Amino acid sequence: MSDITWTEAVRTKPRPGGGDGNGRDGGPVDSGTAPEPLTFTAHWHSESGIPAPRRVTVADDRTKADVAYRLVCEGTALLWRGDYQGARQLLRALGRRLDRLAPKPGATPAETFHRHRQARGHRARVLGMLLVVLEDDHGLALRRAPDVRAACTEAYGPPRRRTVVSLRELLGVIGAHEWRKKGVPIPAIGGHIHPHYGVFSPVRGEYVDLVAAATLPAAAQRPEATAFDLGTGTGVLAAVLAHRGLDRIVATDSSPRALACARDNVERLGIGEPVEVVDSGALYPEGRAALVVCNPPWLPAKPTSAVEQGVYDPGSAMLLAFLDGLAAHLEPGGEGWLILSDLAEHLGLRTRDELVGAFDAAGLRVVDRLDAKPVHPRASDTTDPLHAARAAEVTSLWRLAPAT
Ligand SMILES: C[S@@+](CC[C@H](N)C(=O)[O-])C[C@H]1O[C@@H](n2cnc3c(N)ncnc32)[C@H](O)[C@@H]1O
Repeated sequence: MSDITWTEAVRTKPRPGGGDGNGRDGGPVDSGTAPEPLTFTAHWHSESGIPAPRRVTVADDRTKADVAYRLVCEGTALLWRGDYQGARQLLRALGRRLDRLAPKPGATPAETFHRHRQARGHRARVLGMLLVVLEDDHGLALRRAPDVRAACTEAYGPPRRRTVVSLRELLGVIGAHEWRKKGVPIPAIGGHIHPHYGVFSPVRGEYVDLVAAATLPAAAQRPEATAFDLGTGTGVLAAVLAHRGLDRIVATDSSPRALACARDNVERLGIGEPVEVVDSGALYPEGRAALVVCNPPWLPAKPTSAVEQGVYDPGSAMLLAFLDGLAAHLEPGGEGWLILSDLAEHLGLRTRDELVGAFDAAGLRVVDRLDAKPVHPRASDTTDPLHAARAAEVTSLWRLAPAT
């Protein structure tokens, strides 16, 4: 990532009592001397890969929301130097202004979805223009700021140098830290899963219960049976399989954060022995298994950030790679369990015929299907433009086996 540069009026004369007259953040303090404009440079970080804004101006509690909104809409980022709670308030005020631009529904569900995503992308870009400085210890030197050092170290790794991030991204980092501390209760394993930042979280537990309830194929009930968990995320499904008594579970994921998270959960749960989290560099690990479990991202669209990689699968690439590789990776009598929401079907992004056609093309037959209705607040949110699709959504566990 690149650097970001901004100019800021700073008092440079020594204060009578010592110090350089500046706050720890280099921001102005009242030393009685005239502020001078100085240019600062810091590292720029954006999880969505957004380039460093070229126009940056300093903002604080005196900045009016309407002025701030005009500036961010014109492409000028605001580097916040005021009170932390004031910055959060400004972010909410900007969000309310953006909410007024909600797109009209499209002629088809797919069009509504694409308009909705476009609007969300615009919202994220505009809100991402309110910036804060993380000091070289990841600290936030703003009045009434919480201590974000642990949260930032978890999400970004050890601090190296002053870094500018968007406040919106930082709030996500803080939220993820809280979830990681608290954990998500998983009744199927009688314990908690602790999601890391940027790793798909099993807060919607219905699919976990499907994996806990589906009948294991005879091949997977034999001693020393191996299972694969492809795209393991937090490791939750590997943990369920270990709980169900499988002797060896090999878990893979393309995301380094997911691999670290799954290892952490396996260790916390004390199930280290049967579960191997491997960086295979491919979807399938070496060898064959009696059971292959895969819960791919369920919407065929491009993710715009690491956090979205658990939800969006461009061109259904992971889904198709799972199906196409399955027969060659199953032991005799083995099964593949595909966990998939049908939201893409309700949004007109994939048809049921296309899904079933992909099973056929991969030489697979359906042994059985278990369905669950998602229980999440958005399913009953009638103001959500995608409400109809979400309300109709069903998550299925497809038990697949080679056709011959
Ligand atoms: C919907 S999440 C499921 C996570 C976890 N299995 C669960 O059920 O909670 C999909 C996971 O697939 C991973 N993933 C996406 N594309 C992948 C690929 N090509 N190879 C391996 N993992 C992939 C993502 O990083 C994410 O962790």
